[in-house]
Amino acid sequence: MSATNRKEWWQVRKVNVFDTTLRDGEQAPGVNFNFDEKMQIASQLERLGVDIIEAGFPASSNGSFESVKNIADTVKGSSVTGLSRTVTKDIDTAWEALKGGEEPRLHIFIGTSPIHMEHKLRMTPEQVIESSVEAVKHAKKKFPHVQWSAEDACRSDLDFLVKIIEKVIDAGAEVINLPDTVGYVTQDEIRHLFRYIKENVPNSDKAILSTHCHDDLGMATANSLAALEAGAGQVEGTINGIGERAGNASLEEIAVALKIRNDYYKAETGLTLNEIKRTSTMISKLSGMMVPSNKAVVGDNAFAHESGIHQDGVLKNSSTYEIITPDLVGVNANRMVLGKLSGLHAFKNKIEALGYQASEEELKKVFKEFKSLADKKSEITDEDIMALMSEEKAGE
Ligand code: KIV
Ligand code: ZN
Repeated sequence: MSATNRKEWWQVRKVNVFDTTLRDGEQAPGVNFNFDEKMQIASQLERLGVDIIEAGFPASSNGSFESVKNIADTVKGSSVTGLSRTVTKDIDTAWEALKGGEEPRLHIFIGTSPIHMEHKLRMTPEQVIESSVEAVKHAKKKFPHVQWSAEDACRSDLDFLVKIIEKVIDAGAEVINLPDTVGYVTQDEIRHLFRYIKENVPNSDKAILSTHCHDDLGMATANSLAALEAGAGQVEGTINGIGERAGNASLEEIAVALKIRNDYYKAETGLTLNEIKRTSTMISKLSGMMVPSNKAVVGDNAFAHESGIHQDGVLKNSSTYEIITPDLVGVNANRMVLGKLSGLHAFKNKIEALGYQASEEELKKVFKEFKSLADKKSEITDEDIMALMSEEKAGE
């Protein structure tokens, strides 16, 4: 980075991270964390440094109530929240679950798009406003912090959003979440939405705007970053992007993008980034959802190099082909995959790492054997190399 575009610390703003792995993440088909697993995940999320943990939907079941209560009573380093409809019973149940937390926080949601209001809620826009305002006012009698979400905000009418948001902020909501519930929006559209709300809601400076994107079109990370560019102060998502349908925005991708492209976004999270890999591995194991090997940041191949040209470059200077250093996210080291495209440099490195000394001549001979083996096998293991080396040494 050149001296002219390097940022000074006061130019970087802190973005709050709201993790919903235990709520939206658990909505992923087939995922069902038990009580102990939820406690384990919450404590790892606390270690990762997320600002807010959405621990569940307390009114949805006794099991959810118990786990949200235990997480709120135990976790002290992150604020714990729970989901609620704009229904008094949900809010009161959520209070019973969350009141033991350090900073009790409620997350109220209601659909605001014409599709949701007409076909799901069967409510008029005026009724949705009234229900939201009543719910926020009721919640504020108990909770110090209240977030209100306009479900399907990205398919909602902008002027309706302006009207309802002004009223819920007046009622006491201090975080306004604008979810892309069905993963529909483009980057330009989400930037426009956030800017429009900031500019047209008269009391918008009294609330933090939050972004919550889904990945139906594979754009959840890009859309979350676009919303942050347009002034969102909070980002929501899950670890490994698990969630309903194609999932939620991956928090690890967003946090690392903000770190690596700090020069562009001028924002960062407070996450302890070197806890990312450990958190991802835990979620993958407990959810049963494997992380694809080519997944950004946490996939097994994220720091692996196979072609000879890349391996040679990385061995000379890792920044030739790595924009993220593995240790930044808690991965021990990069990995040179030995295969048909690998070159002599990486091969020599590997045999030395395995403790062998070889003359130039031996090296060339074994490298030739290695190449013919690599034509038949997609990845050459340490055991394969050891077998080649012992054959060579035996024939000496
Ligand atoms: O995607 C969504 O709209 C949600 C809300 C409940 C916030 O998960
Ligand atoms: Zn969601």
